[in-house]
Amino acid sequence: MSGNDPRTMRFEGKVCLVTGAGSGIGRACARRFAAECGSVVVVDWNEQGGNQTVQEIAKSGGQAIFAKANVADSREVRAAIDAGVKKWGGLDVVVNDAATMTFQPVVDLPEEEWDKVLDVNLKSVFLFSKYATPHMRPGGAFVNISSVHAHETTPNVAPYASSKGGMEAFTRGFSEEIASRKLRVNCVAPGAVDTPMLRNNPNIKSGAEKIQGAVGQPEDIAAAVCFLASSEARFITGATLVVDGGRLDIL
Ligand SMILES: NC(=O)c1ccc[n+]([C@@H]2O[C@H](COP(=O)([O-])OP(=O)(O)OC[C@H]3O[C@@H](n4cnc5c(N)ncnc54)[C@H](O)[C@@H]3O)[C@@H](O)[C@H]2O)c1
Repeated sequence: MSGNDPRTMRFEGKVCLVTGAGSGIGRACARRFAAECGSVVVVDWNEQGGNQTVQEIAKSGGQAIFAKANVADSREVRAAIDAGVKKWGGLDVVVNDAATMTFQPVVDLPEEEWDKVLDVNLKSVFLFSKYATPHMRPGGAFVNISSVHAHETTPNVAPYASSKGGMEAFTRGFSEEIASRKLRVNCVAPGAVDTPMLRNNPNIKSGAEKIQGAVGQPEDIAAAVCFLASSEARFITGATLVVDGGRLDIL
């Protein structure tokens, strides 16, 4: 992408923070923001993955910094936000992408595992929303990465499905609170996307969860995320955009 087409420079002068940007969908979002002239804060607890994303962006002439953080840890979340604000003076886009899964029936699931999934997948969204909002400039947007599991699901992933359903409800409520600040928040709910999370999913390996229809690429999700984060989506807030190649429609 290049040239004078304004659609390829939607994030010029904008600061875009992406969690889980050390792999998969988060990395594709970070790369797309940078390709469209945004300055990117790459947040992940995986140092190697995060640094690789920063290097890939730098190689293509973009701007990015790495902020190592566990997104479930309030202190580390605030430090990651501060790193972006200190470097570039504020924030315009926050993508809550980092997530984890467990694969156990509810009756066997240790309470600590429930807490872990909800903390990483949902409390993190609360933390970034709470602490980033005061630094967000008018016109800014949050995009939260949900899942088709918020809508239809399979056995053994109840905490994950709950976290994504909670995220979509949170997004609706939060959208009403930040409208007066001229900020928006939406969700993207991906279907099956070719990333380590999909490839390592034991339910998919065993055939307990069937992938009917197409498997998307991380860039397919990044395209939707960047649309919702851009001013082209200025009339969209509190919404969830399902990006699943039609998977939820297949009987
Ligand atoms: N891949 C799919 O098929 C699919 C489908 C639906 C939804 N999603 C959602 O998309 C998002 C990205 O998933 P992906 O497939 O790219 O996964 P991925 O495993 O490739 O990447 C997830 C990244 O999040 C990071 N991360 C995990 N826990 C963290 C923590 N506590 N603190 C900081 N970083 C942490 C990991 O280190 C990793 O870099 C997730 O929210 C996931 O639920 C993925």
